Amino acid sequence: MKFTFVTLFSNLIEGYFQDSILKRAIDKDILHMHYLNPRDYSQNKHMKVDDTAVGGGAGMVMNPQPLYDALRELKSQDEDIHVVFLTPVAKPFKQNDAKRLAKKTHIAFVSGRYEGIDERVIEEFADEVFSIGDYILTGGELAALVICDAISRNIEGVLGNSDSLDVESFETPLLEAPSFSKPKNYEHKSVPSEYLKGNHSRIRSLKLALSECKTQFFRPEQLLKHRTRKSYEK
Ligand code: ADE
Repeated sequence: MKFTFVTLFSNLIEGYFQDSILKRAIDKDILHMHYLNPRDYSQNKHMKVDDTAVGGGAGMVMNPQPLYDALRELKSQDEDIHVVFLTPVAKPFKQNDAKRLAKKTHIAFVSGRYEGIDERVIEEFADEVFSIGDYILTGGELAALVICDAISRNIEGVLGNSDSLDVESFETPLLEAPSFSKPKNYEHKSVPSEYLKGNHSRIRSLKLALSECKTQFFRPEQLLKHRTRKSYEK
């Protein structure tokens, strides 16, 4: 899978891939990261990429020309490329999107800075537009990283143990049950005794009950979804 980050600030992104699981996937040639700076395409004599908003409004908006040229070039090099824009004005990114997009061969993430991107660029080039949550970041780079990470771990070979994908929170509406490592007792707190006894069917029941408690507490709407789904299955 190839990822291309279209950004004015590739330094913000590159560091994330220099360690841990995604670095290993890059070293194994499963993931390929590329960076494209719209400033390199600017036809302005000062290489400007932004301007004040037409019709007024605070802040600077990214001009269409550098992004049009950068994205035209990208699309001409790979007709299968899937172009994703990051903005708070979009549908929320979900685990289902991560699984679906893991099947693509090349995804370009276009991150805006300043007050955003000229809407004509989005209209012309976006295959999809995502927000990562109801808050405003200083730019789309973090959102691109979040989405790239979530997609990558669904690509065959990226995680060491592919089993670890199945039971995670959001693979079902229930949040994941708590996990514990060793030692069994730490600072007067013990791992739940049922976890220690080795009866796997009882451990599964306890984990389900704990999952339901966590979900009720943190995400009650998800528990409702789980119960509705269960009643359909009956
Ligand atoms: N850019 C700024 N805020 C964002 C958000 N919440 N999601 C995606 N892109 C953004």
